Amino acid sequence: MGTFRFGEVAKHTKLNRGNAVSKSQFGVGENWRESSANRFSAREIKETRKDCRVLKPSMVLEAFDFGSNWKHYSSRALTNIRVAGAREAFRVLTSGIELKSRSFLDVGFGQGLTALCAAETGADVYCLDVNPRCAEALESTSQYFLAEVKERLDLILGSILSTNDVRKLREKSGAGYDIVHSWGVLHHTGNMEKAFANCADLVKPGGQLIVAIYNRHWSSPLWKRIKHLYCRLPRTGQKTMIGIFVPVIYLAKLLVTRRNPLEKERGMDFLVDIVDWVGGYPYEYATVDEVRDLGTKNGLQMLRVSPAAVPTGCNEFVFTKPTEPRLQSEFSE
Ligand SMILES: C[S@@+](CC[C@H](N)C(=O)[O-])C[C@H]1O[C@@H](n2cnc3c(N)ncnc32)[C@H](O)[C@@H]1O
Repeated sequence: MGTFRFGEVAKHTKLNRGNAVSKSQFGVGENWRESSANRFSAREIKETRKDCRVLKPSMVLEAFDFGSNWKHYSSRALTNIRVAGAREAFRVLTSGIELKSRSFLDVGFGQGLTALCAAETGADVYCLDVNPRCAEALESTSQYFLAEVKERLDLILGSILSTNDVRKLREKSGAGYDIVHSWGVLHHTGNMEKAFANCADLVKPGGQLIVAIYNRHWSSPLWKRIKHLYCRLPRTGQKTMIGIFVPVIYLAKLLVTRRNPLEKERGMDFLVDIVDWVGGYPYEYATVDEVRDLGTKNGLQMLRVSPAAVPTGCNEFVFTKPTEPRLQSEFSE
């Protein structure tokens, strides 16, 4: 069976462009379509994570399998209406930022909606995820877009924490990417500060970093324990936990937002999001000020922030990297 060799650096293949690079570099077949059709075992996914060599071994084994959840979403829960919702959320998030013909790196592409929306606007899109199942989810998601949209994607399987993978990404971009986007990812890597720093480093001077990071709330340490427990339980235990949390989270969201929790934003699905939320470990969180400081520490200036709709939700940030080093010192003073 042709699979990615997990000991390699960034596992990269261009989509449907008939280029020779994909085969020689990865030995996975002619193109991504063929490689993504392979099935990856849980053991192989754990091997990919081990390759990062930055997580504690226990964290590697206990990490949530986002890829399986996204595969389920893309193949069973995605609809044209949800894709339209994702498009609209992406339009709002990137308002005022030119995307056409600009390089756009999506770190932790998940189900691939953002990467495909960005490609639709005419951006040259590079998308990275550590979980090979996300490549399969992206393949399903792409069926909701014109065929040529997928051809604008350059897919990389690898980790934002891996020095080798980041070096590969840097080699592709030269001076850096016009836009680095990472929605709901950096807090799930196992080392949010390092993941943020690596993303910031990949932004071209004058470019933007768009991130969404879980808000710090009094209940955040408790949720961390719940997520950790979920990832250590057998399948039946996990299903029981989801059964308990569905009504609890439904009611809590209804009370806080006064809106029907089933009407999800960003084209998401309530049940898929509950599994993602209850199981999503590693898990970190930060206040708006802590993320602003992280940006400043990494030479970025915060342009805007959209606070989370619920206290434990994601705050969305847009940062810019000044073109002049002089300006960097000015705003960090
Ligand atoms: C909650 S999902 C977010 C997916 C997508 N960005 C979205 O907005 O829906 C988190 C994603 O981050 C990916 N991820 C986790 N650790 C990563 C790492 N070290 N490098 C790259 N991707 C990572 C997971 O595989 C998963 O697809």
